[in-house]
Amino acid sequence: MKLWGGRFAAGPSELFDRFSRSLHFDRKLIQADVRGSKAFANALLRMGILNDDEHRHIFAALQRIEAESREEAFYAGATDEDVHTLVIRKLHEYAGAAAEKIHTGRSRNEQVSLDTRLWLREEIDATRHQVASLIEALLNLGERYPDAVIPGFTHLRRAQAVLWPHYLLAYVDMLERDWQRLTEARARANVMPLGSGALAGSGFPIDREQIARELEFEATTTNSMDVSGDRDFVLDFLYAASTIALHLSRMAEDWILYSSDEFGWLELSDPVTSGSSLMPQKKNPDSLELIRGKTGRVFGSFSALYVLMKGLPMTYNRDMQEDKEQLFDAAETVQLSLAMATEVARGATLRPLVSEEAAAEGWLVATDLAEALAREGFPFHSAHKLVGRLVLHSVETGKKPGDWTAESLAAFAPEFRPEHAALLDPREGMKTREAKGGTGPSAVRAALANARARLAAMRERTPIH
Ligand code: ARG
Repeated sequence: MKLWGGRFAAGPSELFDRFSRSLHFDRKLIQADVRGSKAFANALLRMGILNDDEHRHIFAALQRIEAESREEAFYAGATDEDVHTLVIRKLHEYAGAAAEKIHTGRSRNEQVSLDTRLWLREEIDATRHQVASLIEALLNLGERYPDAVIPGFTHLRRAQAVLWPHYLLAYVDMLERDWQRLTEARARANVMPLGSGALAGSGFPIDREQIARELEFEATTTNSMDVSGDRDFVLDFLYAASTIALHLSRMAEDWILYSSDEFGWLELSDPVTSGSSLMPQKKNPDSLELIRGKTGRVFGSFSALYVLMKGLPMTYNRDMQEDKEQLFDAAETVQLSLAMATEVARGATLRPLVSEEAAAEGWLVATDLAEALAREGFPFHSAHKLVGRLVLHSVETGKKPGDWTAESLAAFAPEFRPEHAALLDPREGMKTREAKGGTGPSAVRAALANARARLAAMRERTPIH
């Protein structure tokens, strides 16, 4: 069935028919399409375009379509152009003549916008729940080793010691921003477009506010041309999804390193690692590598739609049909990656002795020493230079921080006083970093509690479908 045959003397070629068909992917929207069609049938009843009888027939048919569309058999042999065409063909089959009126004043251009928004709202909520689950897994992993010390890095060189939960809380903050971005994307999608017609607005006295209420939209769109030409709301989601993927990819990269023999202080659980077909000793972090790898797909979806939209004249162009595979793939990929990352975090274990050893031997305490001198009135640049000389001397003579004593420090330079020796232990300097947001033990304890409260608020604000 075609929704537009009247003007044509010849039908589409077999190739064009195949080339332009979207049913095999946009059938994902069928539940949304039926839901929107019900609301539209109600609007047609209120306008007197459908009588009670016709409305009843259409509703019963839509009900049946909704149920049957959950089974694969429903789509057997379907060669409809898109999901909207399929639903209308089935309506004709099930409701007879009444179905002739369902498309009165309605365009697929607004329908596809409506369906995508309905579908996306739920996917965003599912994604928000998954972000919250990963945050919880990270908080649990942090609280399992509240006092563990690990080296913090810049340039992938050991820099300053931090508490293990402090490191994880950095990802919690990133994921919280991801949750917020999803929430903002949801708000942009949550605007009701129906009643816009093809581009010029509805030619019927349609109560758009009532439809919005019925479909639980926050507002109605304010310009019909914008509706037909707009995919910003999809791009907003793809940006949010891309940033989630980016964060997961960086965490994956960290954990691949930390669990390697070279770092050796994170252990991944057996169920998320795999072996080698040749090398019997291998325990490979494939789950994390795939999380990192799938990031490319999500970025690809974002950039594909960005490029797709950039040269399109107002308003709708068929190019826009290409938005959906990108959207569907990105939504599925990012949800899968979030679930995988959560499972990895739940099974991971820390070797706190190894990580603390790595933090203790690498001169991560140099900054603590320089700052101690500065707190006592020494100009920081001179303190920096003095500690730099201490490190150079130690490197040349093969000394680690733990090899120094109060006496040998004082012998090296009279500026070093006995109490400075305590700072050769990375745990000591950490205690000075209690300013909010730092790795001081009290600051981290407060940050963990604060993150728990924020997580509860996120959960409370995400609807369950
Ligand atoms: N399947 C189309 C899409 O996803 C919607 C239909 C609008 N088609 C049209 N030729 N006006 O974009």
